[in-house]
Amino acid sequence: MRCYLDMDPGIDDALALAVALKQCDVAGITSVAGNVEGKKTFDNTGRLLKVFGRPDVPVVPGATRPLLLFESIFAEHVHGSSGLDGYPLLGEGVKASSRLPAWQWLAAGLAAESRPVDLIATGPLTNMARFLAGFDNDDYQQRVRAITVMGGSLSGGNVTSTAEFNFFADPDAADLVLGSGWPVRMVGLDVTTLAGMPTSDLARLGQQGRAGEVLEGLLGFYAQALERIGEAVDQIYLHDAVAVAAACHPEKFVWKKAPLRVVREGELRGTVVEVLGQSHGRPLVDVAVDVDREWFLSFVWESLTQYKTG
Ligand code: BDR
Ligand code: CA
Repeated sequence: MRCYLDMDPGIDDALALAVALKQCDVAGITSVAGNVEGKKTFDNTGRLLKVFGRPDVPVVPGATRPLLLFESIFAEHVHGSSGLDGYPLLGEGVKASSRLPAWQWLAAGLAAESRPVDLIATGPLTNMARFLAGFDNDDYQQRVRAITVMGGSLSGGNVTSTAEFNFFADPDAADLVLGSGWPVRMVGLDVTTLAGMPTSDLARLGQQGRAGEVLEGLLGFYAQALERIGEAVDQIYLHDAVAVAAACHPEKFVWKKAPLRVVREGELRGTVVEVLGQSHGRPLVDVAVDVDREWFLSFVWESLTQYKTG
C-alpha cells in the first residue's frame, strides 16, 4: 500500500513511522505542530528517518499553528520538551524536500501518482484541513483511497474528560476533515486504548537493532509519563501505530458509520459529537470501535523485528 504520512513526532508517532516504513510504501511525510512545536516535529521526523535507515523519504514541514485558533497546545508532559525524550543524541534531521507549504506539496505529489494512495494522519489535522479545503475537487478525491486519522473519541478523552489531544489541539481542522465528504476513517481512543502494549515488552524492543534500542528508550520515557498522569499502568498506548494498522488492514477492525461534528470552542472543545436524527448533510465517517489486540501487537512486532538486521 502506497501512502503519505502526516505526523507530529512525538513518541507514538515514532513507533508508527517505524511500522509504516516496513508495512507500506511511504511516498512522503508532512510534519505538523502538535506534540511539540512545528520546527521540532519536522526535525524529529528527519532524525527518525535516519535512525530507521530511510533518509531518502521526502519530508516537508507543515503548519506551525492551528487553522484558526491563536494559541497552540503541546504535549511535552508526555513526549518531553524535545518531543522525543528518552533517547539522547538522536543527531541531525534532514533538509526539507520542498519549499512549498506541506499541503501544496502533497497535492503536487498526489497529482503525480498513477494510482490512488492512502493518507495517514497522526497529529492535529491542520495540514489535512488545508489540503482538503484547497483541493477538494473530484480529481483529487479520486487520487485518495482513504484518509485514516488517529484522533477523537466517542468514549472519553485524554486532554479533558471528553476530548482527545489531536482534535483538542486543532478542533476546527478536525471538524473540517470529518465533514469533508472524503473517505475518512477515524481511529480514536475508543480503539487505541483497547490495544496497548504490555510494559513488560519494553526490553524486547531493545533487541531489535539500533532502531529497537532507540524505541525502547523513547517508549520507556513515554510509559513513565502515561503512568505519572494516570492514563495507563502496565501498558503503553501506541495510538498512532493503531492508525497505521487500520490503514493497512481495515478488515481487522470493527467499524461503525456515523455523521460527526467536533466541538470547536468552550468547555467541550475537541469533543466528537454524533449528529443524531437527521444528519444535517454531514457525511458518514467510518469510526473504529474494536480491534483484535493480539493481531495488532503481532502486526507491530512483525514490523519491528525487521529492524534487527537493519
Ligand atoms: C495522540 O496525541 C498525541 O500526543 C499522540 O502522538 C497521538 O497522536 C493521542 O491522543
Ligand atoms: Ca501523534
